Amino acid sequence: MHSLIGAFTQRQRPGSFQLVASYGEVRPPGPDAVSARQGPRFIATDPLHTFDKLLLTREIEERLLDCIAFVEVAPLVFDTWGLRAIEPHPSVAVNFRGPPGTGKTMAAHAAASRLGKKILLSRLSELESKYHGDGPKNIVALFDSAKEQDAIVFIDEAESLLSRRFAQPEQAAESAINSMRTELLMALDAFDGLAIFASNLPHSYDTAMESRLLNIEFTLPDLPTRRRIWEAHLVPGLPVDPELSIDRLASIDGVSGRDIKLSVITAAIGAARRKTVVTEALLVSALERQRRPPSAEQGEAGPPLDPQTAEAVKSRLRGSAKNDPAPPDGPAPSDIS
Ligand SMILES: Nc1ncnc2c1ncn2[C@@H]1O[C@H](COP(=O)(O)OP(=O)(O)OP(=O)(O)O)[C@@H](O)[C@H]1O
Ligand SMILES: [Mg+2]
Repeated sequence: MHSLIGAFTQRQRPGSFQLVASYGEVRPPGPDAVSARQGPRFIATDPLHTFDKLLLTREIEERLLDCIAFVEVAPLVFDTWGLRAIEPHPSVAVNFRGPPGTGKTMAAHAAASRLGKKILLSRLSELESKYHGDGPKNIVALFDSAKEQDAIVFIDEAESLLSRRFAQPEQAAESAINSMRTELLMALDAFDGLAIFASNLPHSYDTAMESRLLNIEFTLPDLPTRRRIWEAHLVPGLPVDPELSIDRLASIDGVSGRDIKLSVITAAIGAARRKTVVTEALLVSALERQRRPPSAEQGEAGPPLDPQTAEAVKSRLRGSAKNDPAPPDGPAPSDIS
């Protein structure tokens, strides 16, 4: 499955690296800098996705570019213009909220790529449980490691970390998460850079956290964006039926980018098995399977299609059944991103 991601080329904007590098150099080590490492070292990686592969509505893209611009112009504003006197640690913390498969992880990688930085990815479950009992230390170590490796921080599954504090924690777990939140607030205040959180469950925010966070809502793609996502995923090397209409595929509403990706992979596997080409019927059928309620074998899946879309999908299937009578076999591939 990595081949799909591997096919995404890395392209960085010329000059962006120097800008960010000089930002790192000019900052004098302050007395309040995160000091001696208190936990494990987290390893940053090169970003896997670039901005040109991320397809978003104009509004979401603009919000994302604003966050990136903050880090890009920080050397000018805080060092050359001297605003560091009033804000010693200019950082931006963003929360990507939205349904599964809408490009949140991809966007974090693309942001790192655009800034010429590495990405340090962790998830709350890892911070909490991998080094059990050391949650707050892990938070310190994460930000410490990001600073050392000139990386942006990306914390996935962040709901409970950003949620309202337990006023009177009753259990050890509640008290542990409170301590992690306190540590996170301090780490954010001492961090010079971009910290991204991702959450896809609704939650009520901790007020101290909310005052520091910018929220970007990732929605399911609209029609023009779905069209671009279909086009991007039906890669040039894929043997496709000349009758296939991207406009018809894009007209199927209520699907995420991941649904599209998985239907393309499923249909391609089905086509390869039958030594045929990828047809619209294979794609639509795979998309429908992808959207079925979860079963024991398939694990997580999106909600079922609404009745109108389901009917449109069925009639399309009936229409193209003569081209490809057999739906793809086997379970949908699980997603790896
Ligand atoms: N906006 C998008 N543009 C292009 N491709 C997308 C987009 N959204 C999703 N995809 C496709 O779906 C895959 C999964 O997306 P991603 O992992 O970024 O979703 P996510 O929002 O982080 O999901 P989750 O909430 O489950 O973590 C991507 O690798 C890509 O192939
Ligand atoms: Mg994700």
